[in-house]
Parts: sequence; structure tokens; C-alpha cells
Amino acid sequence: MRKNIVAGNWKMNKTFPEAEKLMKDLLAYKSKESTHCQVSIVPPSIYLSLAREIFKNKEVGLFSQDVSKHSHGAYTGEISAAMLQSMQLDGSLVAHSERRAYHRENDTLAKEKINALLAAGLRPIYCNGESLEERKAGKHLEVVKKQTETALFGLSEEEIKKVIIAYEPVWAIGTGETASPNQAQEIHSLIRNLIAEKYGRETAEEISILYGGSVKPDNAKEIFSKPDVDGGLIGGASLVLEDFIKIIQAFD
Ligand code: 13P
Repeated sequence: MRKNIVAGNWKMNKTFPEAEKLMKDLLAYKSKESTHCQVSIVPPSIYLSLAREIFKNKEVGLFSQDVSKHSHGAYTGEISAAMLQSMQLDGSLVAHSERRAYHRENDTLAKEKINALLAAGLRPIYCNGESLEERKAGKHLEVVKKQTETALFGLSEEEIKKVIIAYEPVWAIGTGETASPNQAQEIHSLIRNLIAEKYGRETAEEISILYGGSVKPDNAKEIFSKPDVDGGLIGGASLVLEDFIKIIQAFD
């Protein structure tokens, strides 16, 4: 059966000493408590090597916030899948809405990045979701369908099983506004049904689909209780250890 996952996307936050403290505190928590979900963090890439050192026994999963579609070469500022793999990381986010908004990433590029990660034996956390205008226009189902098909449906059955999907409606990210549990469930089940139609129900049931967008300690449990919501990709609340722990404990 599919895994429940809580992943903290730190985005562009924390100085080195702050990052080190948060990681060490999270390790201390993980060392004394058993959790009922897989816990991962997605720190700024400059701290991934530190994270690998701190979580040397893989107590916490480690993902990059982005990856290049290129294998290597003259691409200043970029990080390759092979680099991530050589540090024994788990994978990378792909096509986060902030990459889409500020770096013009789209699902065609997402597809290339996903291929690069899978070729290196890593797991993509593929992010999608509609904008406020698209939801207001009643196009949210159509938008997410198109995104999912473009980015993922060239994959083989074996490949798609390695992908984690994060539905993050743009209007709910960092806004304090959350999709209602039913709104999240509607899209999650749409995504799972699309995968089932293409790859079969058994495959679709193995894929973890996370919700992201203003998940907080007080709404996590209700959102995660929906049948097709397998956890969360947490932004702001993952920067405060107590809040992140409460969200992890929503699975207890
Ligand atoms: P917030 O939890 O801050 O809304 O961010 C969600 C997100 O974008 C996680 O990737």
C-alpha cells in the first residue's frame, strides 16, 4: 500500500546555523519518537550536504527543491540528478508552483526533469495545481488533468510508481487559505483515477498523493483523513519544529 508522507519544503528560508539547529532538533525528535508517516525535508540545496551528514542513518528523507533537466555541463547555478544521487538524496521537487511562476517552468520541462531524476534512480515529487483564476472559472479539474497527463503519462508503469505527486493549489500556498478537505479530496481522487485509467488501479493505489497549501497543525488531521490524501508538502509550518511535529503527529 502507498505510504503516508509529510515533507517540509523550507523554500528560501534559514541561515546556516538556523538550518543546522532545526535539522538537529528534528533528528532528536525522530530518534525518540516513532512516527506513522515518512518524514522528509526539502531544505535549500546549499544545506543538503549538511543534512546528509546530520541524517546519516536516513532517519529523514532528503529532497532538493529543484533539479536540472541536463545531465552535466555548462549550466551555471544548476544541480544535476547525478549530483543528488551521489549524495544519496532521495530525489527532488519538480515544477513547484513558485518555479512555475518565477522561472516559467511548465509541464513539458517537468517531464524532462522527472526523466532525469528517474534515470538517476531518484524520486520526483511532482507538484501541480490550479491558479485562483482557473478555479474561479471552474477549470481546476481540467487544468490538473492536463498537467498530470503532460508531465507523467509518458512514463512506464514501473517509473510512475516512483513518483510522488503533490497537489498544491496556487491560491492556497502561503496565503493562509487552505483547500477544504473535500476540495483536496476531489482533485486527489481525480489524479488517482487518471492514473488508474492509464496504468491500472493497482498502480494508482501505490502512488502517494500529497496536499500542499497552508497545512497547519490545526487543519492537518482533517485534510489527511481524506481517502486519497496521503500526506502533505508543508511550507511555512515546516520552519517551526513544534508545528511540523504536530503535523507529523496528525497521522498518529
Ligand atoms: P505553505 O504551507 O507555506 O502554504 O506552502 C506550501 C508549499 O508550497 C509547499 O511546497
